[in-house]
Amino acid sequence: MAGIALVGIQWGDEGKGKITDLLCEKVDVVVRYQGGNNAGHTVVVGEERYALHLLPTGILYEHCTPVIGPGVVVNPRVLIEEMDALSERGLSTERLRLSGNAHLIMPYHLELDMVTERRLGKNRLGTTKRGIGPAYADKAARIGLRAQDLLDPKIFSEKLEIALKEKNLLLTRVYGRLPLEHQDIVEEYLAYGTRLAPHIVDTNSLVQGALDSGRSVLFEGAQATMLDLDHGTYPFVTSSNPIAGGACAGAGVGPRDITRIIGISKAYCTRVGSGPFPSEADPADGEILVEAGGEYGTTTGRKRRCGWFDAVAARYACRLNTLTELVITKLDVLSAFEKIKVCVAYEFEGDRYEDFPPNQTIFNKCRPVYEEFAGWSEDITGARDLDDLPKEARAFLEGIEAMVSTTISHASVGPEREQILKVHEAGA
Ligand code: IMP
Repeated sequence: MAGIALVGIQWGDEGKGKITDLLCEKVDVVVRYQGGNNAGHTVVVGEERYALHLLPTGILYEHCTPVIGPGVVVNPRVLIEEMDALSERGLSTERLRLSGNAHLIMPYHLELDMVTERRLGKNRLGTTKRGIGPAYADKAARIGLRAQDLLDPKIFSEKLEIALKEKNLLLTRVYGRLPLEHQDIVEEYLAYGTRLAPHIVDTNSLVQGALDSGRSVLFEGAQATMLDLDHGTYPFVTSSNPIAGGACAGAGVGPRDITRIIGISKAYCTRVGSGPFPSEADPADGEILVEAGGEYGTTTGRKRRCGWFDAVAARYACRLNTLTELVITKLDVLSAFEKIKVCVAYEFEGDRYEDFPPNQTIFNKCRPVYEEFAGWSEDITGARDLDDLPKEARAFLEGIEAMVSTTISHASVGPEREQILKVHEAGA
């Protein structure tokens, strides 16, 4: 039995897609366990480049069963479009399995995501406007519709009626929008149901069965630890639990089913959307990171905010996820700098915080305390072995490893598959 969880330890966009791609060669099942089409993985397979939003990366490999678990929120229109786009490129999506318990993103969720962000004005969260928050809110309020409801027209229609009554009041009376038509949604969604029916199954027993029979399962986290609803930088978070612990609830397995937990972090830091970001770089350095790192969102195309590696947040995330190893991505991007900063502590009202601060006010107002590392300024994209790296790059990796008390197993030095090198044996 081998359950492997792969999680981002920053604010997302750490390059999880590339590492997932490498792992996919050796796993049998790949499960998405949270989030929805707010995610965006770019995966390069051979000459082909794929931007996946909702589909698990396993869809790209014939030997893998890709699974969308019960913890995911699914926009069926987007799912079908993504499946069709892959089919047009000659890839089969027949193997896809969708949990009947996964909640559906409905048209009113998209509307509500848009109008609530507008209402919040300068306090907006900067969501991806994919209806993620409103869909999870309805799930918690127990008025959500699930994938299995698509298979029962009567139930679907009844549940929709209950939800829509309230949503239309909200949309028309509070936000001055037009009401949505019950019948239009029923027709649209039942058509999706017909299309998705062959894929909707009990994914819990599928995944548990795979683990019990000794096959490997990869639990593919979307977003990341600092965007976790319970443990991230609330309220500037997503509405699910991307942490490794979330894989149990979101995929339907137990904690003992996951034995290897891989955290992914960039060698620097980015975030999209609003919210505090203590190690955000000054505009000049930020711009260098944007350009050298190609820091534009896969899902929304938004320019990412860039900053320096935040060891305080990373240490917190390594512990929270009980990582067995850490992979550092985009090390090559730092070749653009003579000096490289790492945030080693926060300072607030004369106090120094080396641990993640317990309340939001401190995190919002703290100042970063930096330690500087010497840069290397040479191209490292061809490095394939630790010894190929300049000594400054090795010192940087060692410095980070000590700060987060977690073994760095690999460092990635470019987008291509082979642009990766082993740093230390995991668990060493
Ligand atoms: P939501 O997930 O669309 O509700 O957005 C909530 C916050 O999470 C916003 O700040 C988004 O920018 C951020 N977010 C959501 N998905 C991703 C992702 O895949 N990468 C980075 N940030 C994300």
